[in-house]
Amino acid sequence: MPDQTKDAYERIARFYDTLLEPVNAPLRSMGWKLHPTDDSMTVLDVGCGTGAHLEAYVESGAECFGLDASPAMLDQASARLGERADLELGDATALPYKDSSFDFVFTSLFLHELDAETRRSSLSEMARVVTPDGFVLIIDYRSGPLRAKGYLNRSLSTAAEFVAGRNHYRNWRTYLNSGGIPAVLPKVGLMVEREKIVAGGNFALWLLRPSTHSQPNTEDSSDRSP
Ligand SMILES: C[S@@+](CC[C@H](N)C(=O)[O-])C[C@H]1O[C@@H](n2cnc3c(N)ncnc32)[C@H](O)[C@@H]1O
Repeated sequence: MPDQTKDAYERIARFYDTLLEPVNAPLRSMGWKLHPTDDSMTVLDVGCGTGAHLEAYVESGAECFGLDASPAMLDQASARLGERADLELGDATALPYKDSSFDFVFTSLFLHELDAETRRSSLSEMARVVTPDGFVLIIDYRSGPLRAKGYLNRSLSTAAEFVAGRNHYRNWRTYLNSGGIPAVLPKVGLMVEREKIVAGGNFALWLLRPSTHSQPNTEDSSDRSP
């Protein structure tokens, strides 16, 4: 559970997009290519931050929801999206939505900053609220060998995660050392449909389905060319 008494993003929220968009914009367009949306879909962004990713799904006509624990980040999202998305202050470990509510659940650069138990229960909640035929898309750091370009990327990320604070940095290191996203998936009822490794291996995108989904994944769907 996050510490609800202080907002870890209060000071950075106003500058977040200026600092992060150079990283976020390309990740967002790769995510869109893996799973575009349309006006028949319901979309939830967990840890939506300033709403920059959610805006792309809003523009597709999808009915969009965003949840975040930081009032300051949600203020930014609200300024960006207004009434075009349903934004909620809340905790990813207790999503305030019914089971099977969303065709598509999205989360970016969120899970790495959590302790292991909060990460596991946030993912369980995402698995709960996505429809049985729906998809979850995670964009986050990748644990595993890097290519040449990945070392520069990882050095910049290490500096950024370090300045984000002691807990944040410790959780990120634990996340990487314990295998990142793929290591948690079997515990939360989600399975990989596609994996796309990018930025020399520093980041990856995982398109997931609930494990209860009836169609077996028969093709080799990993994309290992950053
Ligand atoms: C690094 S930011 C990422 C924001 C956005 N998804 C992006 O890609 O730019 C992490 C976000 O997760 C939110 N967050 C952290 N713990 C949370 C929790 N337990 N429940 C909901 N949001 C949380 C933070 O407030 C912050 O906005």
